[in-house]
Amino acid sequence: MTVLTFPEGFQWGTASASYQIEGAAFEDDRGLSIWDTFTHQPGRVYGGDNGDVACDHYHRMEQDVALMAELGHQIYRFSVSWSRVIPFGTGAVNEKGLDFYDRLVDTLLAHNIQPAVTLYHWDLPQALQDLGGWANRSIADAFAEYANLMYKRLGDRVTRWITLNEPIIFTMMGHRTGVLAPGIRDLGITAKTIHHALLAHGKAVQAFRASGVAGEIGITNANTSYEPADDSPETLRATELARDFDSRLFHGPVYGKGYPESVLRYYESRGAPLPAQAGDTEVIAAPTDFLGVNLYSRQRIEPDDGRGVGFRPARPALPLLPMGYEAAPHSLGDFVRWVTKEYNRPKIYITENGVCDNTEPVNGVIDDHVRMDLLRGFLAGLHGAIQDGADVRAYYQWSLYDNFEWAFGYSKRFGIVYTDFETLERIPKKSAALYSEIIRRNAVDA
Ligand code: BGC
Repeated sequence: MTVLTFPEGFQWGTASASYQIEGAAFEDDRGLSIWDTFTHQPGRVYGGDNGDVACDHYHRMEQDVALMAELGHQIYRFSVSWSRVIPFGTGAVNEKGLDFYDRLVDTLLAHNIQPAVTLYHWDLPQALQDLGGWANRSIADAFAEYANLMYKRLGDRVTRWITLNEPIIFTMMGHRTGVLAPGIRDLGITAKTIHHALLAHGKAVQAFRASGVAGEIGITNANTSYEPADDSPETLRATELARDFDSRLFHGPVYGKGYPESVLRYYESRGAPLPAQAGDTEVIAAPTDFLGVNLYSRQRIEPDDGRGVGFRPARPALPLLPMGYEAAPHSLGDFVRWVTKEYNRPKIYITENGVCDNTEPVNGVIDDHVRMDLLRGFLAGLHGAIQDGADVRAYYQWSLYDNFEWAFGYSKRFGIVYTDFETLERIPKKSAALYSEIIRRNAVDA
């Protein structure tokens, strides 16, 4: 057994998102979000589940933070529900909503846990969706206005800010495949949402600098580690295309490299160009302080000339997790190496990484050994990437407890703590103890 020790000062904790845990969807003057609308439409979410109550974090926040502290966590990433603080997306502010996040931040700091705030984790105010949502260019200014409100309100205590969580997912799956809110399927709309999400990110970064608030800001992208299914030149080319359409689409513009040519051509040739205007490139490339990396798996790629994008996923070769993707712990280190090289060694926070493992309690014990094995594996891979020169400073495990897994409702469990969705009791799983030990030692056994 080898002990893999992380760099001194490496930070450990968990991540969450407002709609997935808060509940209290109709309380204290919170405005509706697209997820309230979507989950209440028949057939959208597995089992008809919704986030009306979720984990009831809104009412159990103190206990939840105390639990993090008991488990030895040092950092915590949460998202703000935009419609809780600005019920109609722009204009009137809801003090009760702001109070909640104020108290959350104070409680975290009282327990010595450093907060990181995600400004947007998919729950767009419905009032903005009614104006076209991310397809309407004016959303970029609305987002900057909202971001500014949060900087002013929490910026005296919060020093780590994330603009958007996984724009590739909420643009593509919300507007192209339609499996996430707002459930649209339209290529032209998708193209607009991609560009406006990036523009909103850039404007929020500029607003952060202008606010004078001390701290750091970055974006969190969703990632898959792409591997060629074989060594042929066609397959290698196809793998680069997968990286264009997924990784480079949202990293390239942020790092001043612009949109990948292949992606621009794809949208243009289908009459759905990305609606960039003069000056946008510079706004989007406003310098950031770190890169947030979310990663759950890998995908093997093979060429496909029939589908237009030129690549497709090859047959999985590793065991599948309940989410349908491969159990591939090496993917985290691999992706971190790739992104480090591609974008000139950015400072990285792993803003999400975790495992879906639906193990149920047996005599009160939740022996989630699949999660434990993969957690060790992911961290061993990450350690390797750091040894190879990647600048990774923090790891946020997804997630503290089982929660509302979007279109899968409550049927997919990602927590290191079990949530009993009948009683809302939280029961630490075996992986929670393992994670505490990793944190205490700042090391993992390989
Ligand atoms: C999202 C989370 C989600 C997790 C697990 C990420 O793509 O940011 O909200 O719960 O994956 O599927």
